[in-house]
Amino acid sequence: MSELYEVKEEMERVILVGVATSDNDDTEVSMKELAELVKTAGAETLATVIQNREARHPGTYVGKGKIEEIRELCEQLGATGIICDDELSPAQMKNLEDELDCKVMDRTMLILDIFAQHAQTKEGKLQVELAQLKYRATRLIGRHRELSRVGGGSFGGGAGASAGMGGGIGTRGPGEKKLEMDRRLIKDRIAQLNREIADVKKNREVARSLRERNPVPVVAIVGYTNAGKSTLLNTLTDAGILAEDKLFATLDPTTRGLALESGQQVLFTDTVGFIRKLPHHLIDAFRSTLEEAKYADLILHIVDVSNPDVDAQMHIVYETLRDLGIQDKTIITAFNKQDLLPAEQTMKDLKADYTVKISAKHGKGIEELLNIVEKILREQKKYVECVVPYAQAGVLQQIRKYGQLLSEEYTETGIAIKAYVPQDIYAKIEHQNMFGLSTTSCV
Ligand code: GTP
Repeated sequence: MSELYEVKEEMERVILVGVATSDNDDTEVSMKELAELVKTAGAETLATVIQNREARHPGTYVGKGKIEEIRELCEQLGATGIICDDELSPAQMKNLEDELDCKVMDRTMLILDIFAQHAQTKEGKLQVELAQLKYRATRLIGRHRELSRVGGGSFGGGAGASAGMGGGIGTRGPGEKKLEMDRRLIKDRIAQLNREIADVKKNREVARSLRERNPVPVVAIVGYTNAGKSTLLNTLTDAGILAEDKLFATLDPTTRGLALESGQQVLFTDTVGFIRKLPHHLIDAFRSTLEEAKYADLILHIVDVSNPDVDAQMHIVYETLRDLGIQDKTIITAFNKQDLLPAEQTMKDLKADYTVKISAKHGKGIEELLNIVEKILREQKKYVECVVPYAQAGVLQQIRKYGQLLSEEYTETGIAIKAYVPQDIYAKIEHQNMFGLSTTSCV
């Protein structure tokens, strides 16, 4: 006869472990960020241990003496596990687990776990699960990582099973899903996920081509995690997107439309927050989502000026954009959270084409920001003078909607117009040979 057990989920109580090497001077900031991530995952940090070493130990991440110190600390504080600040190799993870006899986790596992808790759309969930399984496929699941498995709740929202309850880092899948532990099944599931993601990607491409036919310009909002991207989108469009003081509140790109003062319509799309040491499996899994920014007409980079680490964060955002192949776009940098600065400060971003100071939360500087967006979009349009044959008069409708019709005159051969038009309408006009008069590019 089987018995029914109520498995209570225990809150993870962890010790953070980092290695400061001579070629890396931001260990302390990185450890603080790790502590934030732990909080976001619903666990508790008991202590932080940093070892100064020439390089990370290839077999055990930290040296022998440090392992001893960590073991004692674990016992003394009653820690359930440790979290290392870098991605551990499978061997490092196993060796540390054997030496310490407690659960060993790393930054990647933690970030994946947070992503799993926050993914909302179907695509986001598939992508996180894929990244998690790829990470797991190479790692033996030690007995310690099974211990605090999520339990007690039933599928569909039973008490204790909901995300964000703490405990079980590394064992939670997107939403309520439990992760399959069997390596053979992992392989099958990865193949299935790849197929499903390819399907979703196809849908996205269809949506993109529909959008191209209806050329509303797209502004991609990018930035370090917690910079205020969702808050800005909320302020801009009253979109009702979740804004939390937790890292990675946003995982799925959320797109909202807005009409600028001139009547010009724009789509603002929020993207996943960037962070240092963003796991490469995650970048791979989210590549298609992040690539939305590639097709954007301009990039709006949100920066949290109140963060002491602001320069490094900006650098990481640009590095990530470069890794994603997103270059040569017009960039507006919005220095956000001005309300938290005690005095006026001059901020610089040499990579940006325009900068503006805002407070997304208090709606300050938003008008100036939108004026800059409008100016850039206007400049990206081309000036045309042409004759549109009556049979093609539909294009006028599009110009009224997406461009600026300066004049129209009905002639024998068609409608003679002067207008500013987006690139794709310009291409259509060119393709259909409508240039009866002359055409010049707008400045
Ligand atoms: P991720 O989803 O992690 O990428 O974060 P995000 O960039 O979307 O940040 P989000 O909008 O969730 O904001 C993070 C925190 O900063 C929230 O607590 C916001 O209320 C706060 N915040 C955003 N803008 C401002 C601002 O102008 N001033 C102040 N004081 N707080 C702000």
